[in-house]
Amino acid sequence: MLKRKVGIIGAGLVGATTAYSLAMLEICTEIILYDIVTDVAIGKAIDIEQSTSFSSKATIINYALTPADMINCDIVIVTAGVPRKANMTRNDLLDINSKIIKDVTKNIVKYSPKAIIICVSNPLDVMTYLMYKESGLERNRIIGMAGALDSARMSYYIAKKTAMDSSQIKSMVLGEHGEKMLPCPTISAISGVPINQLIGKSDIDNIIEDTKSGGATIVKHLKTSAYYAPARAITEMVSAILNDSKVIIPSSVVLDGEYGYRDTTLGVPVVLGRNGVEKIIELPLEESIKTQLDDCVISIKDSIAILS
Ligand code: APR
Repeated sequence: MLKRKVGIIGAGLVGATTAYSLAMLEICTEIILYDIVTDVAIGKAIDIEQSTSFSSKATIINYALTPADMINCDIVIVTAGVPRKANMTRNDLLDINSKIIKDVTKNIVKYSPKAIIICVSNPLDVMTYLMYKESGLERNRIIGMAGALDSARMSYYIAKKTAMDSSQIKSMVLGEHGEKMLPCPTISAISGVPINQLIGKSDIDNIIEDTKSGGATIVKHLKTSAYYAPARAITEMVSAILNDSKVIIPSSVVLDGEYGYRDTTLGVPVVLGRNGVEKIIELPLEESIKTQLDDCVISIKDSIAILS
C-alpha cells in the first residue's frame, strides 16, 4: 500500500477510538496522535499499535510530542476540545472549543499543508466554519463529520422499529449537527425502498425525534458524549477519501450558493474522494424541508456571529 498518513489531534475518547477503528480496518499505513496531554497520546499510540500485532497488515501508530512533529499528513482529524456533559448543548462548548480550533488549525496548515481536514469538535458546524476561515484553504478540504453519524443513528432507530438488518438501511440527515437537524424519511431507505412506504407516520415521527436526541441519549447514560459510532463514522469518511471511493456521505461543508446559502456551513449530501469534497449534491427539496434548513442556517450563522 502507498503511504497513507492520518493525523489525529485530540487522543481522547473519539480520537483514540478512531485510531483503533482505522487500524483494525487497515485503512492507512501510519497514524500519528497528538494531544495537549502528551502522555495520553504516547500511551494510546503504544497500546493501539500493540493491538495491530493480530492484524494482517500492520499500521504504525506514532505520537507527536509537539504540533511540529505531526508533519505531512494526508488527512488530519480534529477531535481536540471538551465534550458535552449532561444538561449541556453542543453550543455550550462554543467558547472553549473555538480557541482550541484556532490554535490547531494554524498548526495543521503549517505542518501538513496538503492535508484534508475532518473536523469533529463541537459545535460541529461552527467549528468547521471557523477552521475554513482560519486555514484559508479551499473549501473542498475542510469537512465536518456530522451527517455520517446522525444518519447512522437514524438507521439504528429504523432498524429497531422495523426489526430489519441495519446493513441494508441507508438514512439521510441534513442540516445542523444539533437540535434542528433534519432526519429525512423520504430519502432514507431500506434496500432502496423509502421508509415512508414501509412504516406509518407516527413511527416515522418517533424515529425523527429519537435521531435528533440520539447524542443526548448517550450523554445521559455515559455522562460524556459518544465515541464508538462517531469513530466509525469518521473511519468511513477517511476510507472514502484515501480510496477515492466517491461515495455520498452527508457532511457539514462550506456552501457558496448551493441550496441558496452562502458563507455558512451546513450538513448536505456530498461526494467524498481524494480531493475531499468532490461534489455537493443539490437535492430538490419539499418546501417544509427547505424552511427547516433555513432555520438551521440562521442558527449556525447566529453562532458564527457570536464568534466574531
Ligand atoms: N490540542 C490537542 N489536544 C487537545 C487540546 C489541544 N489544544 N485541547 C484539548 N485536547 C485534548 C484533550 O486533552 C483530550 O484528550 O482533546 C481530547 C478530547 O478528548 P475527550 O475529552 O475524551 O473528548 P471526546 O469525547 O473525544 O470528544 C472530543 O469531539 O464529539 C466531539 O463534542 C465532542 O468536541 C468534543 C470532541
